Amino acid sequence: MMGSWSAGLISASGRLALLICAAAALASVAAAQSAPDTESPQSNVVAEDEPITPVPLPPAADPLKLALGERLFGDVRLSADGNLACASCHDIRTNGAGGRTGSAGKPSLDTLSVFNAALSFRLGWQGNFRGLAEHVEASLENPANMHTNAEAAVRRLQKDPGMTSQFRAAYGRGPDRDDFLDALLTFEKSLLTPGARFDRWLGGDASALSSAELEGYRTFKSLGCSACHQGVNIGGNLFERQGVFRPLVSSPPRIVRVPSLRNVATTAPYFHDGSAATLEEAVRRMAAAQLDRTLNEQQVASLVRFLKTLTGNYRGSPVTGAAP
Ligand code: HEC
Ligand code: HEC
Repeated sequence: MMGSWSAGLISASGRLALLICAAAALASVAAAQSAPDTESPQSNVVAEDEPITPVPLPPAADPLKLALGERLFGDVRLSADGNLACASCHDIRTNGAGGRTGSAGKPSLDTLSVFNAALSFRLGWQGNFRGLAEHVEASLENPANMHTNAEAAVRRLQKDPGMTSQFRAAYGRGPDRDDFLDALLTFEKSLLTPGARFDRWLGGDASALSSAELEGYRTFKSLGCSACHQGVNIGGNLFERQGVFRPLVSSPPRIVRVPSLRNVATTAPYFHDGSAATLEEAVRRMAAAQLDRTLNEQQVASLVRFLKTLTGNYRGSPVTGAAP
């Protein structure tokens, strides 16, 4: 039974997965070669042969551009009617998503978190975008959201002397299209959440996980969850059919990008239509629909225990669930 989906997986994305493995192998060879005389090469070494890798620290960025990007992300002048900012749906004080559904056109889709989006190989539930640079203009133009475009937003910002001087300080000139998009992107790329307990365990801190949590991780791998949810974002790098063995979500799309499980304990509701209210329900439905497995209560609890170790930190504080 397993063969039917793994074949599709390999033909669609096997090449990518292989490339990633090859790159990781090369990197570890290079690391070993560049430090031949280290006393204990094992200390601080990321756990090897695991299907998941830790979230890195945010890239270095110009603080003025970053601050400007953050201000723009919260600015309602980025929407045509002046009612919505990016932050209206993507609350970075909580989980980078909020609890809203029904905002991205037809069919209405659960809001994806902006956290760690920079690390996924495609963006959006359907994976239509090849990265943040390709996505940012679409997010401005989406008629269900901002319903504008970069030029129109810049024209509105140019009328504001305070905004103009902040652009001058960061870019040496008043607001223009390229700098506007660059500032937004700079901010989006900073939205990484390192330091999850699971990542600390991957980094060699054996005390970061309890034995029950580790057992949950083993269950995650042995059931085959990690065939689809793997890589740095524990998802975000493969396309898959949803509902392989049994129906999962009845509304389209049928083929989706496997979502990231980073911070998943904070991002209820689950699935692209938001139809699973709890992590327990999501895990049970996943096992049945994608793996043809009926889980017992113990297995569900064990998996959920592991998923709760995937919550990272943004600016040093743990990511939290959306405000009710
Ligand atoms: C009205 C709510 C809403 C607003 C406003 C909004 N978004 Fe989104 N965003 C969503 C939804 C819903 C999705 C998932 C849509 C999809 O998959 O097609 C999403 C997806 C994303 C993603 C992809 C995440 C991933 O992991 O694939 C990014 C990045 C993003 N938005 C950034 C932004 C930016 C930048 C702005 C402001 C210019 C913005 N959004 C405004 C609702 C919103
Ligand atoms: C064959 C690939 C595949 C396998 C195997 C798989 N998943 Fe998924 N997972 C998906 C896809 C695709 C989705 C998105 C479904 C949708 O909403 O359309 C998803 C969604 C999820 C979600 C909800 C994420 C969110 O933000 O909405 C959770 C939680 C999850 N999976 C956990 C698991 C667990 C635990 C297992 C093992 C029991 C598992 N998955 C096995 C492909 C898979």
